[in-house]
Amino acid sequence: MRVLLSGGAGYIGAHTAVALIEAGHEVIVVDDMSNSSPEAIARAGSLAGAEIPLLGADVRDEPRVRAFVQQHGPVDAVVHFAGLKAVGESVAQPVRYYDVNIGSAVAVLRLMAAESIPTIVFSSSATVYGRPETLPLREDSPTGIDLANPYGKTKRIVEEMLKDAAAADPRLRAIALRYFNPVGAHPSGRIGEDPSGTPNNLMPYVARVAVGSLERVGIFGDDYPTPDGTGLRDYIHVLDLAAGHVAALERAREGFEVYNLGTGVPVSVRELIAAFGRAAGRQIPTAVLPRRAGDVAASYCDPSKAREGLGWSATRTIDEACRDSWRWQSQNPRGYAPSPR
Ligand code: NAD
Ligand code: UD1
Repeated sequence: MRVLLSGGAGYIGAHTAVALIEAGHEVIVVDDMSNSSPEAIARAGSLAGAEIPLLGADVRDEPRVRAFVQQHGPVDAVVHFAGLKAVGESVAQPVRYYDVNIGSAVAVLRLMAAESIPTIVFSSSATVYGRPETLPLREDSPTGIDLANPYGKTKRIVEEMLKDAAAADPRLRAIALRYFNPVGAHPSGRIGEDPSGTPNNLMPYVARVAVGSLERVGIFGDDYPTPDGTGLRDYIHVLDLAAGHVAALERAREGFEVYNLGTGVPVSVRELIAAFGRAAGRQIPTAVLPRRAGDVAASYCDPSKAREGLGWSATRTIDEACRDSWRWQSQNPRGYAPSPR
């Protein structure tokens, strides 16, 4: 099938582009480059052995996106990655987050109606579960309890919109994938996560400390009710996540479905730092800091619905994710930015 990736030059999009092409599909990308570089798409294309058409535009620019789709179509499905994802920034700039995250999903649904595209896979997030009542998290666990930030709310709202759109149009195939914590990089070391500025998330922060560009990792609290007192998360290798999108596109049926994409294995902050230290062959300096506002003690999924419904499960370990992240970080200490001469 031919698949349009909105936000396809980003971290998860670029890895999914490679996985889709390797599975025999064609990919075209719309990305406004607000958090990415065309270099990611150039490298993804060279890894997969295909030219990936790229439109550098806001996905809400409907006339340009339609013309691009008509030029390279027909398109069978959209994977909608495009959006803003920094939780803290969403608290400071809520209107911008609603504008981009909801507006881009509306634009994609309008494009699909105009161009008769039946299938959408949407990047949702484990953040929609808020503060878990019970663990592991299942797709039917309550959502929206204590949703502390506008970012999480935009994910919930777009899920609701897809549900309503599918109820109104029986031909629509809509899947929301609730990612747990994506980590790692392509094993080639050619594509990976390239956050601008100081990373907010744990793995890219640890990677920057390992490479020497940051001094030490702050551990946000070691007094949680967990085995070693630090937070537990479900870290999923980005290649497993990419494979989950291929499965979702190939298995999508009429209607709206939600799937967790995670490993089901909880890993603590200290365990992740130790695994990264082993992968990089160096000690990672740490300091215990107070808890971060809004954090939960533990978040991990029951991944059985995706295994049964999509025939997909994660296969890679945290050690593989650390090894691949380290390879990417050490080979590209400045990310996709050209090296200084
Ligand atoms: P990313 O920032 O690397 O990728 C998003 C891409 O969308 C970027 O390339 C950016 O330039 C592009 N973009 C943003 N607004 C756009 C617009 N209006 N028009 C066109 N392009 C636009 O982020 P990612 O980590 O690859 O995440 C992809 C999706 O998955 C996002 O929707 C994110 O919210 C969601 N998600 C990410 C995580 C995570 O931890 N990485 C977890 C859960 C969900
Ligand atoms: C983040 C997002 C969440 C998103 C999820 C999945 C925030 C506040 N939340 O959550 O919306 O759904 O990613 O990608 O960004 N930690 C440290 N030191 C650090 C950074 C993190 O100890 O420098 C700890 C955190 O307290 C947490 C764990 O590491 O226990 C993971 O943190 P992070 O990578 O930011 O992910 P989440 O908090 O799960």
